Amino acid sequence: MNWDDTADDDTAERLVGASADHEEQAVEAALRPKDLGEFIGQEKVREQLDLVLRAARARGATADHVLLSGAPGLGKTTLSMIIAAEMEAPIRITSGPAIQHAGDLAAILSSLQEGEVLFLDEIHRMSRPAEEMLYMAMEDFRVDVIVGKGPGATAIPLELPPFTLVGATTRAGLLPPPLRDRFGFTAHMEFYEPAELERVIHRSANLLDVEIDPAGAAEIAGRSRGTPRIANRLLRRVRDYAQVKADGFVTREIAGAALAVYEVDSRGLDRLDRGVLEALIKLFGGGPVGLSTLAVAVGEERETVEEVAEPFLVREGLLARTPRGRVATPAAWAHFGLTPPRPSTGGNGQQDLFGA
Ligand SMILES: Nc1ncnc2c1ncn2[C@@H]1O[C@H](COP(=O)(O)OP(=O)(O)OP(=O)(O)O)[C@@H](O)[C@H]1O
Ligand SMILES: [Mg+2]
Repeated sequence: MNWDDTADDDTAERLVGASADHEEQAVEAALRPKDLGEFIGQEKVREQLDLVLRAARARGATADHVLLSGAPGLGKTTLSMIIAAEMEAPIRITSGPAIQHAGDLAAILSSLQEGEVLFLDEIHRMSRPAEEMLYMAMEDFRVDVIVGKGPGATAIPLELPPFTLVGATTRAGLLPPPLRDRFGFTAHMEFYEPAELERVIHRSANLLDVEIDPAGAAEIAGRSRGTPRIANRLLRRVRDYAQVKADGFVTREIAGAALAVYEVDSRGLDRLDRGVLEALIKLFGGGPVGLSTLAVAVGEERETVEEVAEPFLVREGLLARTPRGRVATPAAWAHFGLTPPRPSTGGNGQQDLFGA
């Protein structure tokens, strides 16, 4: 399989990858919750956001700028649209990479209506000059439009109508502090609990006209890596299987059999993830082993192992990155039905069974 050259945290072709390609975005639009009440999970964020929006509405004012930070597929774009809907305001959608020059941003800002929501996706990927223009726009609802070049250039101040900026980022750490500080409210989106994903799956199944029982939903939820996007994607694959191989009704058995076909295991690991762990355990006795050696053993690029497979394995406590190399944790051994060797007691010469 070709894992693509993407430098993103994920590859779209991967069934358990957290990012979405173009085609999928269209499918997703149909599954998006439309208001806060429909939005599942993220209790804290929902409660806080609800207060921010209610207060603004009560004051008849434009809501504070909101920063949504969290991993791909957790609902940032969805929430931005909900914010606009709750404020009964129009929404303008753009992204950091789409804004090459400060002028691009000035054009967008100056055409906003009062109260409009500007959704700036991947805000950490905006250019420096645009970023600086944004500081002033956020704080003072004003931009300086530079006319001319060189020594003759002049800055013409332009008043903006009050608007709400909703920024989204998967990498909050990359935002310069002056930008981060200008948001009135930052929502940190967490991975979802299996029970929440079950609700997401039931809701989507309903919208897609798929019959599913609770055990079927639980089976899919457990393999969805805490991510609604993955849950929805797996549901669609399971639906196909249920239609072709059964009567369309999704049970635990059907969900399990369908996802076995797609090589997504009970914890949501795919072939790549398992390949990495298996190499670590079977070839290197559980490690520690260097990243390059491990990558060669699984026949993948170093970057693929490090950026595509490892983050989830680390998050799940299956793999540890240590100064001496990668190590399979006892949970990883258990996942394959194996017992880890007893930890070598180091120094007294005692060797464990699996060593070397
Ligand atoms: N809390 C939720 N309840 C129900 N469905 C959700 C929820 N969060 C996300 N989803 C669904 O998951 C899919 C992905 O969500 P969304 O596009 O908002 O993620 P994102 O955080 O913007 O991802 P990215 O970082 O890739 O832009 C959507 O189809 C949406 O319907
Ligand atoms: Mg998004």
